[in-house]
Amino acid sequence: MSLSYKSGEGHPLLAALGWSVGRYAGVNLDVHAADEMLQHYQWNIHGGDRGQSLVSYFDSGRRIWQAMSEILHWRFGPIGPHFRLLDFASGYGRVTRFAAHDLPPEQIWVADIDAEGVRFQEATFGVHGLVSQADPDRFTCDVRFDAILVSSLFTHLPAATFGGWLRRLLRLLQPDGLLAFSVHGEDLVPPGRELPPSGVLFDRASESGSLPTEQYGTTWVAEGFVRRAIAAAAPESSAHRIPAVWPTFRISGSSCPSRAAPSPDCAFARGLRVSSNTARSPPTVCGSPAGSRTASAGPPLASCGWRSAAR
Ligand SMILES: C[S@@+](CC[C@H](N)C(=O)[O-])C[C@H]1O[C@@H](n2cnc3c(N)ncnc32)[C@H](O)[C@@H]1O
Repeated sequence: MSLSYKSGEGHPLLAALGWSVGRYAGVNLDVHAADEMLQHYQWNIHGGDRGQSLVSYFDSGRRIWQAMSEILHWRFGPIGPHFRLLDFASGYGRVTRFAAHDLPPEQIWVADIDAEGVRFQEATFGVHGLVSQADPDRFTCDVRFDAILVSSLFTHLPAATFGGWLRRLLRLLQPDGLLAFSVHGEDLVPPGRELPPSGVLFDRASESGSLPTEQYGTTWVAEGFVRRAIAAAAPESSAHRIPAVWPTFRISGSSCPSRAAPSPDCAFARGLRVSSNTARSPPTVCGSPAGSRTASAGPPLASCGWRSAAR
């Protein structure tokens, strides 16, 4: 298996940032050579600088998992042995590696349309793998999950499959389950462009070199569009937007001259959405009146997203 980075290599930048000691010392840092997220950082953001790209890659994965952990803790309290997590559209495990460090890998499933990425994560992190499909109705999965994380997929879906994937994923949840996904909000629409009345703007361009552009491009959405899509997919569910900040985020080499092209991470930073079928307010996670489980008294949800993760 060809790797871009191998655990134990001890890159000086990573060592300087403390990645070889303390809480994250045990995280598996193997990165597959085909991992497009690392390539995206290296060639679209850091001008080829491998060290900076590795830092961005690992640090963004850590932040996403930290945000998700806070949400899980807030919602479920301590994670028990029967808890099941799905990292959907997990790529090659930028985030999964941190999940697998904190939770027993046998409680984690990953799914991606890239079968090689799925196999890599099974072999490297010991998680369960599912190979996904372009068409949500063709994705088969018999497992039901307490929580599903989708970082940086809805930021790329056309309107035609946005709702379909929401519906498919919401149906994979346990009755008291929670789905967290990122979007590019209205505030990230490139200058000179605007959202159409439908509330969704789709461009046939992305960081992916492998997926058809009509299937996987770049998507910006209005909050109303997302709320309508959730309501249509699961009328009994409810949704909460977590606006978040990543003040230091910067992209160069973008196609938008005065403002960075949206990146999946930027999207996650700006608009993590949580939907669940159990109501809790405040904070405003929405849910089914029939929901039987009460969210635990964890940290305030407002501290999730990227606020707590910002440097
Ligand atoms: C921007 S990457 C994000 C990867 C990972 N979630 C992360 O945050 O590093 C988007 C991922 O979505 C995957 N993907 C695209 N279409 C998919 C589909 N229909 N089902 C599952 N995964 C899909 C791609 O293969 C890619 O790995």
